[in-house]
Amino acid sequence: MAGTGRNRDGAAGSGPGAITPDGSAVEFYAAMAPDEASAALVHAAVPAGTPVLELGAGAGRVTRALLALGHPVTAVDDSAEMLAHIEGARTVRSTIQDLELGERFGCVLLMSYLVNYGDRAALLDACRRHAAPGGLVLLQRETRPWLGPDAPRAWSHDGVDFEVVRAEPAGPDAAAVTIGYRTGGRRWTHAFTSRRLGDDELPAVLAASGLRLDRFLDGDRAWVAARPA
Ligand SMILES: C[S@@+](CC[C@H](N)C(=O)[O-])C[C@H]1O[C@@H](n2cnc3c(N)ncnc32)[C@H](O)[C@@H]1O
Repeated sequence: MAGTGRNRDGAAGSGPGAITPDGSAVEFYAAMAPDEASAALVHAAVPAGTPVLELGAGAGRVTRALLALGHPVTAVDDSAEMLAHIEGARTVRSTIQDLELGERFGCVLLMSYLVNYGDRAALLDACRRHAAPGGLVLLQRETRPWLGPDAPRAWSHDGVDFEVVRAEPAGPDAAAVTIGYRTGGRRWTHAFTSRRLGDDELPAVLAASGLRLDRFLDGDRAWVAARPA
C-alpha cells in the first residue's frame, strides 16, 4: 500500500505504507536500526536509570536503544501505526501539545527536529509540564541550512540515500522543504516547513515555556539541554 500525505502545518509525505500526520513514513522508521548515537548522548546527560519521556517516539528507533541502556521509557506519538512497533516501553497515543500525563520525568526528550516544526511554544510547554524539578529537557534542533549555497543537496547515512527535492523560503526564518529518501529499493518523500531556532533566540524561546538553557550536548550545538526555570 502506498501512503499519501495528510497535513499538519503543511506537512505531507508519500511512499509505501502508512504516513503519519506530520508526513513521516511508518515503514521507513520501522525498518531503521536503533539510534544508538542519540541514545548515548541522552544516557550521558542524565543519571543512570533516569526515566525518559520520549515525545514523538515514532517506531521506537531511539526507544529501543534507551531501553538497552537501562532507561524506562514512556513513548508518546499520535500515530498508532508507529507505536505498534514499540516493545518494552509504555506507549501513549497523543499529540504532544495535548499531553497531560500528570507525571513528571527526570528526562523529557523532544528530538527529530520537532522543535523546528509546528507549534513550538505548545511543544515546549508540554516538555516543561512533564519535567521533574531538577530534571532535563533535551531538544534536538536543526543546525544545517536548508537554503543558500552551503545547503546540502544529497547525503547518505545508515544505508539511506537522502536528496533535497525542493527547498524554498517560507518567510524570513523558515524554509519549505521536500526531501526524498530511499533505502532497500523503496522511496518516500517528506514535505515540511522548518523554522529556524538559532542561538540568538534560544534563551527567550525557552524562557517563554518556563525553561532555561543548561548546556549543549554536542559540538554542533544541535542537542540542547534545558532545565525548568
Ligand atoms: C520523523 S519521525 C521520528 C521518530 C523518532 N523520533 C525517530 O527518531 O525515529 C517523527 C515522529 O513524531 C511524531 N510526531 C510529530 N509531531 C507530533 C506531535 N505534534 N504530536 C505527536 N506526535 C508527533 C510523528 O507521528 C512521527 O512518528
